[in-house]
Amino acid sequence: MKLWGGRFSKDSDPLMEDFHSSISFDKRLYKEDIEGSIAHATMLGSIGVLENQEKEKIVEGLKNILEEIEKGQIEFSQKAEDIHMNVETILIDKIGVVAKKLHTGRSRNDQVATDLRLYGKKEIDFIKDLIQALIETLVTIAVENTETIMPGYTHMQKAQPITLAHHLMAYVEMLKRDYGRLEDAYKRMDVMPLGSGALAGTTFPLDRELTRKLLNFADVSRNSLDGVSDRDYVVEIESACSLIMMHLSRLSEEIIIWSTDEFKFITLDDGYSTGSSIMPQKKNPDVAELVRGKSGRVFGHLIGTLAMLKGLPLAYNKDMQEDKEALFDTVDTVKKSLLIINPMIGTMKVNKDKMLYQAARGFTNATDAADYLAKKGLPFREAHSVIGKMVAYCLDESKSLDELSLDEYKSFSDYFENDIYKAIDLITCVNDRSVTGGPATFEVERHIVSINKWLEEINNGRNSN
Ligand code: ARG
Repeated sequence: MKLWGGRFSKDSDPLMEDFHSSISFDKRLYKEDIEGSIAHATMLGSIGVLENQEKEKIVEGLKNILEEIEKGQIEFSQKAEDIHMNVETILIDKIGVVAKKLHTGRSRNDQVATDLRLYGKKEIDFIKDLIQALIETLVTIAVENTETIMPGYTHMQKAQPITLAHHLMAYVEMLKRDYGRLEDAYKRMDVMPLGSGALAGTTFPLDRELTRKLLNFADVSRNSLDGVSDRDYVVEIESACSLIMMHLSRLSEEIIIWSTDEFKFITLDDGYSTGSSIMPQKKNPDVAELVRGKSGRVFGHLIGTLAMLKGLPLAYNKDMQEDKEALFDTVDTVKKSLLIINPMIGTMKVNKDKMLYQAARGFTNATDAADYLAKKGLPFREAHSVIGKMVAYCLDESKSLDELSLDEYKSFSDYFENDIYKAIDLITCVNDRSVTGGPATFEVERHIVSINKWLEEINNGRNSN
């Protein structure tokens, strides 16, 4: 008979069992579920709802189940519906009737909410570590390329010269914010709903503070309806993960473009590329393409969960069981993506000469030429117009700005002197942009120092935990 079968006079249709059972996916919560049950039983023992001997038996039994699951010795049953009732059923089989006391003062509703928060907290820590590792890889490449000049783009058109370090450090900033979002989400998730019961708490005098301590939560929930019925923490993980994937997808897109024959800014390692079954010459950037592609499913999970939740009256509704596959797939996808993109980037070869070659074309120093005139006293808008005319002239003559003679310069403006050549030199163009956050070598090095300090703080924090 089912654990809830008392009021039923007939068994479920097998189709029904298949439809509502969640064990095929929520089995991955087995550890959190057993941890939660051990804490609950221990607390029931301490308030005298369970005799010490009963508590010991239950805790012992749960620990054995955990061990057996980890050794692959347990087969879960669809009939037992979900991980919570599977563990309980196995415990009853193992230790007998005393196991039937475990569910005292508890509901699957506060149980699943607790399991999922424990799971979310653990996964956030994993993802944070993977982000940190990717940041470290990007910083390592940045350190070697603070003088590697490349064209910066707007509208995918050459705009102004920057360095590869400056470009990669932009992603470091994005990923650092992603890290912060996960930290924020963690704080709000760090609240224990156990004790909320099905929806209205319980008549047993539970010591929620003790369970909280045992499960290492920062606080306990303050409203039993909210405790069992919100999944905003799931949405927060999915949202933070969506932003991570959006950033990884943009980075991937650049890697794809940079590795084309047209750009050749980088060469991907063979270990992270694939060939074509028909075209012998092909070397495809599949990792980057897949990361870009997989971002879509993560965004989908975010929207799916929001849509699933938006019409639910308080408190628990079975719709909420749909939160899990979305969350699990989000976490899996983000972890796999971060894990693979890191060595792909870490092993790519940077073709500095190609970057410089392209930076020297397309008038990336035109703004600097206009700035030159403005610094000599010509209003910037007029300077802009003069240089615009010069660019048109250069296009006609198939020349770049630095290939014009001083006489040609002077025919456009009397302000030009011999120092114009230094002013539009790409190295000058980069290093004169020394405003905070700019691409100047010195400025990017300063940024790298501050990021390294932040990384050190994270490592120190981890060591002191
Ligand atoms: N498997 C369920 C879920 O994931 C657990 C809670 C079920 N509660 C209930 N009253 N049916 O949401």
